[in-house]
Amino acid sequence: MVKMKALLLAGGLGTRLRPLTDNLPKPMAPVVNRPWLEHLITHLHEQGIEEFVVAARYCSDVIRAHFGDGRQFGVRIEYAVEPFPLGTAGAIKNAERWLKERFLVVNADIVHLPQLVPLLEFHRRHGGVATIVLTEVEDPSQYGAVEQDETGRILRFVEKPQPGEAPSNRINAGLYILEPEVMRYIPAQREVSIERETFPRLIREGAGVYGIVSEGYWQDMGTPTRYRQVHWDALERRFPLPIRGRQIQQGVWVGEDVEFGPGSLLVPPVVIGNRVKVGEHALIGPYAVIGDDCHIGDRAHCSRSILWDHSVVRDGSRLSNSIFGYRTVAPAGEKFTDAVISQAGEAVRA
Ligand code: GTP
Repeated sequence: MVKMKALLLAGGLGTRLRPLTDNLPKPMAPVVNRPWLEHLITHLHEQGIEEFVVAARYCSDVIRAHFGDGRQFGVRIEYAVEPFPLGTAGAIKNAERWLKERFLVVNADIVHLPQLVPLLEFHRRHGGVATIVLTEVEDPSQYGAVEQDETGRILRFVEKPQPGEAPSNRINAGLYILEPEVMRYIPAQREVSIERETFPRLIREGAGVYGIVSEGYWQDMGTPTRYRQVHWDALERRFPLPIRGRQIQQGVWVGEDVEFGPGSLLVPPVVIGNRVKVGEHALIGPYAVIGDDCHIGDRAHCSRSILWDHSVVRDGSRLSNSIFGYRTVAPAGEKFTDAVISQAGEAVRA
């Protein structure tokens, strides 16, 4: 078991996921009907982590309202709320009083369920101040690729390398193990980026920054396309995320107290939350996630779409490739393709 505190970076604006993030921190967006941050905390807790610090700012109340002091989830949670956006390293500095021993930092919008023990063993062996967890991607050109020596020490980052110029296909996975000495390298009271400022400085000054690849599923859920993809990967079990509900047939998960009208059809893969009402001759799937307390009207269709809790798809409405936020309504007979819609009330087209 891993005994360390974990700092969860959850203070970004999530602009690329608007309007879903209009009133919601991106890490609180549900992934298969449960806030991603909850999946993450549960996963880290299963590996032994009991104490968390959430570095938040934008809509931090939403996070606090959900988790409180963490007791309900069997953990302890402190909140380091920033007075202004401090960036990824500034947020770490802002939580310094809780981080006096070796600690873990996690970008809370990265969808990844890492195995911590091998990462921590690697960190102990190299003896440097920082371990950056890496993931291997096919095309590193949208990211920063790392160059390492044979011991795993990181020599440099190449931001957005041109095709053929990347030193490797390994990129920063958004997960770090840091020694408290790192705090000395982060100036207080200003915005500081760990990727652009702190890590390059630690490398320049020879403090020992090492990288190790973490195997397994990894996805940045920061855009609607990637956010949807995370869902489809979970439904296809390429991403082994725990899914709530009973699997009544291959690829069909159904929650409690669900009512199906006559002639309604589920085409796998599909997840239906609790207390969902499905109308007559409605068609759900393939690829659909329906949140708790949703109503799907008669002859409505939902395919390749995600509905958050308490949403309504009225009779004859058709959704494809769309994301509907909490308490949204798709009016009767309307067609929505590639729509991303949030807020209460009747929906407008995205
Ligand atoms: P976009 O606005 O769509 O780029 O998203 P973002 O800024 O929320 O996310 P980005 O990928 O830039 O940030 C990576 C992680 O760091 C996310 O989990 C963010 O929540 C977090 N983060 C980014 N900036 C800050 C900050 O100033 N403070 C804190 N506490 N977290 C931050």
